[in-house]
Amino acid sequence: MSFEKTILCIGAGYVGGPTMAMIASQCPRCRVTVVDINPERIAAWNSDDLPIYEPGLDELVKAARGRNLFFSTDIERGIRENDIIFVSVNTPTKSFGLGAGMAADLQYWEKTARQILEFSESSKIVIEKSTLPVRTALAMERILNCRENGICFDILSNPEFLAEGTAVRDLEQPDRILIGSRETDCGLKARQTLVDIYANWVPKERILTSNIWSSELSKLVSNAFLAQRISSINAISALCEKAEADVAEVSRAVGMDSRIGPKFLNASIGFGGSCFKKDILNLVYLCRHYGLDEVADYWESVVTINTYQQERFIRNMLGAMFNTLAGKRICLWGFAFKANTGDTRESPAIFIARRLLEEQAEIVVSDPKALKNARTDLTGIAGRVHYVEDPSRAAEGCHAIALLTEWDLYRNLDFQKIFDGMAKPAFIFDGRNILDHRRCFDIGFNVYPVGKPPLTHF
Ligand code: UDX
Ligand code: UDX
Repeated sequence: MSFEKTILCIGAGYVGGPTMAMIASQCPRCRVTVVDINPERIAAWNSDDLPIYEPGLDELVKAARGRNLFFSTDIERGIRENDIIFVSVNTPTKSFGLGAGMAADLQYWEKTARQILEFSESSKIVIEKSTLPVRTALAMERILNCRENGICFDILSNPEFLAEGTAVRDLEQPDRILIGSRETDCGLKARQTLVDIYANWVPKERILTSNIWSSELSKLVSNAFLAQRISSINAISALCEKAEADVAEVSRAVGMDSRIGPKFLNASIGFGGSCFKKDILNLVYLCRHYGLDEVADYWESVVTINTYQQERFIRNMLGAMFNTLAGKRICLWGFAFKANTGDTRESPAIFIARRLLEEQAEIVVSDPKALKNARTDLTGIAGRVHYVEDPSRAAEGCHAIALLTEWDLYRNLDFQKIFDGMAKPAFIFDGRNILDHRRCFDIGFNVYPVGKPPLTHF
């Protein structure tokens, strides 16, 4: 079968894998190849045990794999044979040198650009899928177009807005697709090529086009706005605890204002995930770079509140449990940064586990999908850690349960049985406000939600 378009994606991660599976599934006339430097990852994508857990992903991959979706480690061949190249390699926060802890580490990005230059034998469209500092496309253009051999590269920015746990649905029915390009004849033509791919399944009015810098920046700003809403409600949750207000009632009242809207107003132990903190710090670094210190400080405070909220959770636990956790056994329900994913990157659970161990508590970690990652995250941290998948068993003999991830399965457990098996007085700290607090209290638990008055028997 001859394909209309041949597409490559470099980087088979959380973003590259699912996004390409969706393109392959929606565009049977495109051949999509995903390459990665990590052979184990590629082997996993080619197996029955995919490297990431996402509802609906197995079916999507299985239907297209071997038909028009291929996973390979042959990056050189991939570059030679494909005209449209998505780049979705990781851009973590820099851990060294200038901008350490803030700026994006662009080394994998630049290395990939150089590989594209080295192996290309014809002109290509190169698409930034990774989140990048604004104006990265300029560096990309300069690297790629430095040879005068008639091969030309058009750079597009096409940020991905999918959220983990709902990746397949987000890809299938996106709020919008954003495509930024240079506004030259070549740039506009390249942009149209990508618009045509998405138009296979995304309604035209949801495909937005813009100049390339707006597109790069919009991704950082979207994540910053989402994180800011969480920090805003978390900051208010601290006040609610003092004022005996209920943060869920406040969120509901505020969110019913159609100008504000109800989403992303759930108070919690703080946001995690690979993107929010990294992208805000990147934004802060950019603002400082351009001399916009007040703007930088404003956005940095979103991260400050997030750390404060996690520490506050620990302090509330300490305060409630008579100011000592030493030698107490504490069960963590959930380790993933949110429900429906096994991903633990930047999960607040890592911070909380580490702090509990510092207080010399013994911890029992429980999670339906993230125990493997939890083990890696906690390697090398001194203290007594156990891993038990079943949440009821994990709580046996514990002094407290700290609910850290909003997995549905925690809502309907046999709380009477769990209570009976715990040390007394038994505590529940609901870091996601998902349990039936009154019911738990009636059974005998001392219940501490976030941003609501505690229910205690003292
Ligand atoms: C990545 C970026 O981190 C994020 O900023 C962006 O928005 C989307 O791409 P993610 O897919 O979650 O997000 O990253 P990750 O799961 O780490 O996947 C990146 C993949 O790129 C890894 O599998 C890695 O092996 C691969 N890679 C990295 C290459 O193939 N080549 C490299 O040079 C570097
Ligand atoms: C986010 C963006 O939503 C997505 O558009 C972008 O492409 C990548 O970053 P993701 O990190 O997968 O996606 O998860 P998201 O659903 O945004 O949740 C991030 C964190 O915020 C989680 O830890 C979640 O538990 C927390 N959160 C979310 C809250 O604490 N309260 C809320 O109301 C919503």
